[in-house]
Amino acid sequence: MRYATSSAQVAKSRVHALVIGIFEDGSLSAAAEAVDTATEGRIQAIIKRQDFKGKKAQTMLLQDLDGIKAPRVLMVGLGKAGVIKPEDYLAIAKAAIMQLKRLNIRKALYCLTTTQVEDRGPDWVATKTVEQFEDATYQYLVMKGAKPKPDDRLNLEQVDLLANKSELKSCKKGMLEGVALSKGKKAAKDLGNAPSNVCTPSFLAEAAKQLAKDYSSITTQVLNEKQMEKLGMGAFLSVSKGSVEPGKMVIMNYRGGKARQKPHVIIGKGITFDTGGISLKGGAGMWEMIYDMCGAASVFGTMQAIAELNPKMNVVGIMAAAENMPSGDASKPGDIVKTMSGQTVEILNTDAEGRLVLCDALTYADKFNPASVVDIATLTGACVVALGSHATAIFSNNDELAQEILEAGDYTHDRAWRLPIWEDYQSQINSAFADMQNIGGREAGSITAACFLARFAKKYRWAHLDIAGSGFKWAGMNKGSTGRPVSLLLQYLLTQEGKEL
Ligand code: BES
Ligand code: MN
Ligand code: ZN
Repeated sequence: MRYATSSAQVAKSRVHALVIGIFEDGSLSAAAEAVDTATEGRIQAIIKRQDFKGKKAQTMLLQDLDGIKAPRVLMVGLGKAGVIKPEDYLAIAKAAIMQLKRLNIRKALYCLTTTQVEDRGPDWVATKTVEQFEDATYQYLVMKGAKPKPDDRLNLEQVDLLANKSELKSCKKGMLEGVALSKGKKAAKDLGNAPSNVCTPSFLAEAAKQLAKDYSSITTQVLNEKQMEKLGMGAFLSVSKGSVEPGKMVIMNYRGGKARQKPHVIIGKGITFDTGGISLKGGAGMWEMIYDMCGAASVFGTMQAIAELNPKMNVVGIMAAAENMPSGDASKPGDIVKTMSGQTVEILNTDAEGRLVLCDALTYADKFNPASVVDIATLTGACVVALGSHATAIFSNNDELAQEILEAGDYTHDRAWRLPIWEDYQSQINSAFADMQNIGGREAGSITAACFLARFAKKYRWAHLDIAGSGFKWAGMNKGSTGRPVSLLLQYLLTQEGKEL
């Protein structure tokens, strides 16, 4: 879809549909006012008749209004008059977009971008609007054999975002950010949704190499198993060796800042399928584990969005990619392996494999002398129990960093909630035979997983995001990767631009 900003006269626009906002008390947005004036009071008449009450996210379609060039006007309720809350704006925009989709509109002038949103500027509104359009029209069609029927096709081609003249610049900046963000989110979703027979560790590595071809600011390096063996990544290899698909450590290096500027590092869990290994998972719902690389996909998507926006900073994205399979070569419960850090791990459950691939990636990250390290992983089922699908869980060894990430999540509405990694929990993963074990018992499963990672992240400011609940949806026809937390990560990184750490 194409986007543009516009401060054209609403009544004269020749798009297929205008989208205008109306408040619950009957007061009109400037665009609605313009339509009302041009139609000699049609809008006011409808409100007076109480056919349209302006309730939050309510919609009504008007056709062929005299005085208006566009054949359709979609009225959208903005709720209570005044400044509206960010989450309400998102619900309103979504309702409007759903209608445009249903009506098969190709070209629209979307006037809700002039809405005043609490604690947010016109740039935020534009970014979020583009993101919502792209989220709402996303389809994963790569695997469909038959061509989609014309009626099933999404026809939206061009959306103009209305801006007041004084806000045009800010709206445009936000729109461009929304386009870059959405490109990254789409890439993350496409990778996340690709099944494991397609999306293998090698597939992720190839995608990262292609990214480096597409953007001169990015270079990609791929470590194969032999190279990882040399580096002593015994934990990573204990997972990858069980599969015929070779494991890959994929490093994407974005250089937009000065050479000496410390990079921010983001690391994604890239288990392209998680059977559980010898500690085999049950069959019901096992297919969901095609999504066990959504952390890696979000790293990829964020790197792409960064490359699109070209901030003056350095970012390293790492995908720790392997397949967790049971086989004659697979690790067995009770096996003890040596990590790159030198610490040893007793693998009591081969299904707790995410932390095993991540711990070596965390040690590897140290070589970049990072300003911060954030890992993203569909790490624990316990996280879904604790927070459901709305919040990403965040754990951190640094309060300031945790705060910055929480704020990025609040700002973008890609929200996270912090859980503790107090020393008190650490004893749950102490091992009699090794330096630690890879499971911590029934209690606080997400926390003990984070505590495990914390033992490998002592040298830098670090945060861990558990996206087991927020990273994908598993419900029927609505299933799929959500592209989270690309929004949060991009926002976090962009606020670090220019900061010297
Ligand atoms: N990938 C899973 C976690 C998961 C489960 C993500 C459900 C999304 C939805 C992870 O590798 C895993 O299997 N974790 C185990 C850990 C346990 C063995 C300590 C779990 O959560 O049961
Ligand atoms: Mn597992
Ligand atoms: Zn897993």
